[in-house]
Amino acid sequence: MSRAGTPLASLLGPWNMLLMSAYCLPRTLLKLLREGKYAVLLSPGRLQDAWFNDFWGGMAGPNIRRDAGIRVVPLLEGRASAGDVVDRQVVPGLAGTVVEVGAGAGLWVDVYPEVACVRASGEGEGEGEARRRNVGGSRAAVDGVITRVYGIEPNRDQHPALRRAIAAAGLEDVYRIVPVGVEDLDDATKWEGRVEKGSVDCIVSILCLCSIPEPEKNVRELYQYLKKGGRWYVYEHVRCEHSWYMRAYQGFLNLFWPHMIGGCQLNRRTEKTLREAGPWGKINVGQPSVEQWHQVIPHVMGVFEK
Ligand SMILES: C[S@@+](CC[C@H](N)C(=O)[O-])C[C@H]1O[C@@H](n2cnc3c(N)ncnc32)[C@H](O)[C@@H]1O
Repeated sequence: MSRAGTPLASLLGPWNMLLMSAYCLPRTLLKLLREGKYAVLLSPGRLQDAWFNDFWGGMAGPNIRRDAGIRVVPLLEGRASAGDVVDRQVVPGLAGTVVEVGAGAGLWVDVYPEVACVRASGEGEGEGEARRRNVGGSRAAVDGVITRVYGIEPNRDQHPALRRAIAAAGLEDVYRIVPVGVEDLDDATKWEGRVEKGSVDCIVSILCLCSIPEPEKNVRELYQYLKKGGRWYVYEHVRCEHSWYMRAYQGFLNLFWPHMIGGCQLNRRTEKTLREAGPWGKINVGQPSVEQWHQVIPHVMGVFEK
């Protein structure tokens, strides 16, 4: 979704994603039939979750991890400015208590030990440390310690893959799956746990604010979980702002897209939504400069500091 290419390739790219998703559907249906999960087959919402899991986690994931990873990893290290990756660190990397919104199948879980020291909260100095690795030698600085990650993911079909990613990264003591949507984060009747407002050091949202309900309301709500000085690392696809014809083309694609890509909306104005979520101390975001006029799925990348 993120590589720049020829105009034709990037104009047709989203159709390729739709075809891949369509290709997954019969396999999902057959799997559910074989497993006797008739209730899932009869529930449009649960069927969409199962289908999306097979598509995103099983099929599209490795490409997305590779294509977006060249930006997301530096972003989480604090090396993004005006939408581009830079050599020097411009903000601290991930640290402290982290909320990952829409964790999905855990495509980014392995990045946490790469960008910071990870230690289970409440344990003694050095104990429970999962791994410490300074990515790229002297290039990336380790800013601090990640003590807790809350991975918000309401699609339970993705939890087995997410759990496998957590175990593979050695983060069982640190990473907790929150099995509800962001809209229910504060609802003690929906999950056993609590995240206090004003207690979160960092929020990570990667390609997920396109999928949450009522984005203005829920982004405003998430904003309240950040401490003063906390940081929101964002890599999201957004509405085309280049021209009316690209916006019209994106709007046409969006007639099919949410139905086939797990409810994802192509044309959200996520940067605006984030800017208006509340007062920010500093904002350093932008569209990656490699993305040209023909980018049907343009991105916003950077960090908002509260
Ligand atoms: C396109 S996927 C991206 C997943 C992951 N961030 C990644 O990059 O692989 C969007 C994710 O948002 C999740 N999602 C949908 N509704 C949500 C909600 N209300 N709250 C939090 N996450 C949600 C979906 O289940 C899905 O896993």
